[in-house]
Amino acid sequence: MADERLRPFKSSLGRTEANPYVEKLSEFAPYAMTSDQGEAARGQWREQMGLPADAPLLLEVGPGNGFFFREVLDRFGDAGIVGIEVRFKRVWLTARKSVEEGHTRFRVLHHHASHLDDLFAPGELDGVYINHPDPWPKQKHHKHRLLQPAFRDLLQRALKPLSEVWIKSDFADFGPIACDLFDTPGWERLTFTADLHAAPTEPLPGTRFWAADVETNYEKKSRRAGAVILLAGFVWRP
Ligand SMILES: C[S@@+](CC[C@H](N)C(=O)[O-])C[C@H]1O[C@@H](n2cnc3c(N)ncnc32)[C@H](O)[C@@H]1O
Repeated sequence: MADERLRPFKSSLGRTEANPYVEKLSEFAPYAMTSDQGEAARGQWREQMGLPADAPLLLEVGPGNGFFFREVLDRFGDAGIVGIEVRFKRVWLTARKSVEEGHTRFRVLHHHASHLDDLFAPGELDGVYINHPDPWPKQKHHKHRLLQPAFRDLLQRALKPLSEVWIKSDFADFGPIACDLFDTPGWERLTFTADLHAAPTEPLPGTRFWAADVETNYEKKSRRAGAVILLAGFVWRP
């Protein structure tokens, strides 16, 4: 029987009864959290991680196996990072990778990106990475896509001014979709490239949380299969 504190996120996405990773998450407490614990940390993430009040706070949506997540921890030594994942095993994998490296400035939990308001107080975040969001290619499934106005509005609330949003995908349609989505008052495009790996990936001057050169696990596999990776970056400058 799963510990009540490990109660899964309320959506139907977690098949908890048969999923051993629900209980296994406690192996990495307090770094792997339940969705309830995450919601209790709203507005206090830095405190939770023992970071100063002015430390940057970053979010990765869907860290998968946690390779990129760990690299971001290595790269931005003063930042805290939160990962939200809808797959319990991937929450566990992400926690394990970063704990094994000795990191403590992070938390990872089972949560759904369309409920960001439950996790972050207005202006709490400094940056967001969304690497290879699910494409949901069929028309009837487009409503499940993350990149849509309701999600952008959630981001706007959770981000403080000058925060950055970085998106990578091997699904070419997401290029114009992302550019249209953030072509709206308060947002500025930092960069868009349809083929990130066509040229050497230099850090974009003036950006704070550039990590586009870190290949994610999914990206490596996808490129091996011949896919082209796009990169889009935006800044919230209301
Ligand atoms: C294609 S995989 C990419 C994984 C990783 N970012 C990478 O590039 O290797 C998409 C990931 O996002 C997670 N995911 C999908 N929808 C999500 C949502 N709404 N909220 C949080 N995570 C989500 C999936 O479980 C999966 O791990």
